[in-house]
Amino acid sequence: MCGIIGYIGEAVAQPRLVSGLQNLEYRGYDSAGIALVDDDLAVFKRTGLIGDLALPEDSDQTCGIGHTRWSTHGKPTDANAHPHTDCSGRVAVVHNGIIGNYDDLRTELSEHTFRSETDTEVVAHLVEEQLATTDDLRAAVAAVLDRIEGSYALGVVAAGYDGIVAARQNSPLVVGHGGDGTFIASDVTPLLEHTREVSYLEDGDVALLTGTEVTVWNDGAVVERPTQTIQWDADAAEKGGYAHYMLKEIHEQPQALRQAIAGRLDPVEGSVDLDLSLSPAFLSGLDEIQLVACGTSYHACLYGKQLLELLADVRVTVEVASEYTVGRGRTPGRTLVVGVSQSGETADTLRALRMADRTGIRTLGVTNTVGSTIARECDDALYIQAGPEIGVAATKTFASQVVTLALLSVAVADARGELDPSQARTLLEHVEALPGAVQQVLDRESAVIELAEAYAGGDAFFFIGRRMGCPVALEGALKLKEISYDHAEGFPAGELKHGPLALVTEGTPVLAVVTDGARPEETHNNVKEVQSRGAPVIALVSEAAGVEEFEVGFPVPALGVLEPLVANVYLQLFAYHVANVKERPIDKPRNLAKSVTVE
Ligand code: F6R
Repeated sequence: MCGIIGYIGEAVAQPRLVSGLQNLEYRGYDSAGIALVDDDLAVFKRTGLIGDLALPEDSDQTCGIGHTRWSTHGKPTDANAHPHTDCSGRVAVVHNGIIGNYDDLRTELSEHTFRSETDTEVVAHLVEEQLATTDDLRAAVAAVLDRIEGSYALGVVAAGYDGIVAARQNSPLVVGHGGDGTFIASDVTPLLEHTREVSYLEDGDVALLTGTEVTVWNDGAVVERPTQTIQWDADAAEKGGYAHYMLKEIHEQPQALRQAIAGRLDPVEGSVDLDLSLSPAFLSGLDEIQLVACGTSYHACLYGKQLLELLADVRVTVEVASEYTVGRGRTPGRTLVVGVSQSGETADTLRALRMADRTGIRTLGVTNTVGSTIARECDDALYIQAGPEIGVAATKTFASQVVTLALLSVAVADARGELDPSQARTLLEHVEALPGAVQQVLDRESAVIELAEAYAGGDAFFFIGRRMGCPVALEGALKLKEISYDHAEGFPAGELKHGPLALVTEGTPVLAVVTDGARPEETHNNVKEVQSRGAPVIALVSEAAGVEEFEVGFPVPALGVLEPLVANVYLQLFAYHVANVKERPIDKPRNLAKSVTVE
């Protein structure tokens, strides 16, 4: 996730911005920059390390903004690094999030000179237009916010304007009240060396920071945002107060999902825009889509296969990348290979994609990492826009991969002339409701903690599900084994009676996905099978169906075929809290690496 810092006050701004950026390094970044402002604006930015910035040795400006970028729109290049400026070079903007309608705005601003490929730059040009009609920077930014859609935490400065304007919508932004000035930051980490007094902006807030005061408006009226005293140390602050990155990333899922879909879907029309160069002619001529991936990404593909087949009437195969061969009878021009990889660097997935490419088959990389090898080498790249994931166990990226594959399913179905508009509208409405549904599960965390404490002593754990519940069962088991070191297995629920049932005892908790999209009636029968062998069952059940029939049941908000994806959040929390009870090194489990770059 990108990082923001801003300072205005009595002290020289540059050292504060630089140390602020250094304290944001933990979030991951590929480029960095700062803007210093008084009657003029000076911007320093580039790819690489903060220490690589060619900064002046004797700056005396007392106001500025800084940014660490982790690419989502546009490659990691010097031009794409923030801050972004307007045509005149007098306005500078730093931004976290995604401006969903930037394409349309950019077309509208065709008379302006754009220097980057980012969504953010439109904001600088829109502010420039507003400043032609007002000399109030806060009013100018507020007018621009009416024009932009998506998520943002923004910091804006302009030459000759005394102040920083900040705004927040679905992307966190915190204000710091220091002894000699005021700050903005994307989280409290870079503020702690200067102040522990902070206030959190809320969605819709626009703030004006002067060196001595912070005034916040929402919907045109001045509002109070209470000041809080931060007690965390720097390490806890990096994790947003969570004990581990994994837990933080589990909780970031609503935000990650909003980013994954921002500007990409129109539920009223039932359409999506993924900005891919795959032509409708190519997509409608396909005989087969091959999905290749490893680990958690492989499970996302198993889910994605079902969505693609449901919507787009195309044969989809899924292969563990290390086992992939193109296979006989696959014709270039009629086959598409999709490599799904959070890191974009997994050697097995890369090998499979290169193999397909050598036979002339078109490749698409679905990844979280702009500029990664898979993004660069594939014919097309589709970004899941989840923000950096630091915990070794993948969590938010699984959710973002599945939702991105759901959008791809609609795009492919549309191109093939197979789109059932009402089916697409329903799916996209569910996609839009997904962040809220995930939040409802996160809000029940305390019940999952109790559950984990009660069951952490299990001999082994089974996870079962059907249809789209099956990849979630596999993923639930993988998460638990990775971080708790317990024996955990996921099965298609119907397979239990063909063997694994022999292992089920009173000491084997079974976690069952009994939701829509997971053939709940049949899975319920399998639940009864294991219950009659004395196994404790923890069921994740469609809210509409009710949890009463299960001894331990957790409700899943109504969301059709996306219900298993929501149920997965319970399984992530369960895995996390079982491992936490056992005091495992959750963010760095033994023998595992975040990115597996060997075959
Ligand atoms: C599990 C996990 C791994 C990765 C796998 C593929 O929590 O993180 O199973 O999913 O190594 O990695 P990517 O998606 O980077 O290709």
